[in-house]
Amino acid sequence: MQQAIAVLDSGVGGLTVVKEVMRQLPREKILYFGDTARTPYGSRSAEQVIQFTREIVDYLAQYDPKMIVIACNTATAVALDDIIGRVDIPVVGVINPGARAALGKTKTNVVGVIGTEGTIRSGAYVQALRRLSPHIQVITKACPRFVPLVEDGNFRSSLTKEVVFDSLQSFRGSPIDSLILGCTHYPFLAETISEAMGPGVKLISSADETAREISTILQGNGQLGGNDEIPVHQFFCSGDPRKFQEIAQTWLGEQIRLTPVIWQAPHIGA
Ligand code: DGL
Repeated sequence: MQQAIAVLDSGVGGLTVVKEVMRQLPREKILYFGDTARTPYGSRSAEQVIQFTREIVDYLAQYDPKMIVIACNTATAVALDDIIGRVDIPVVGVINPGARAALGKTKTNVVGVIGTEGTIRSGAYVQALRRLSPHIQVITKACPRFVPLVEDGNFRSSLTKEVVFDSLQSFRGSPIDSLILGCTHYPFLAETISEAMGPGVKLISSADETAREISTILQGNGQLGGNDEIPVHQFFCSGDPRKFQEIAQTWLGEQIRLTPVIWQAPHIGA
């Protein structure tokens, strides 16, 4: 049996990373967990996000994955080190890949970052960017209204446009030439975000660079899925399965095998 790459997020956002992994590594089996019953993570405390991330990793561990991908910036910001210390397989987050991708694109050295309240508050992007490029200028903004729109499948409505334009208003006239989508849900809104920012600002998603990092690690460990078996991916979600399935199938362009997961009551909405 092929060992899978386990990918987790608070909801459907990590599917933006999954899509890129499937494109770059079509032979890899994906095990995905979207914690849709407890989304959004962005407004929760760091302790709670760490706890939820541990629970999901423990759940996925029963399938013996070869790697964990924390495809959630909020969880990467606060729980990456904790999870690395708890498991003995490689763990990949999305913040360093996102920072690297932005530094490869900016010409002005002034970069914008949008993310959840938790991610922006953590300062994780500013640290990651400065570690790689000490003189980079970073302008950050939390956009807490974006994730609920995405979880509702509301990608291009007039409400979405209003919320996106309103949330990004403070960037108007700012000298950024690249904007990091520092939440894996945001690529679902890329068209509208791009419209709001104008043609002079490149949108940076961490998906592409994260998939490359996954590939490098697996290759280094001699663990790339090399057989001709067509992988059967498996998706789990803790909330409304119909909504998740609809969004996943539209985004990935294929039917998915979904298993709804019933969490213990005390965890839900805690
Ligand atoms: N997709 C997530 C992220 O990248 C989490 C969003 C949320 O649940 O608030 O931050």
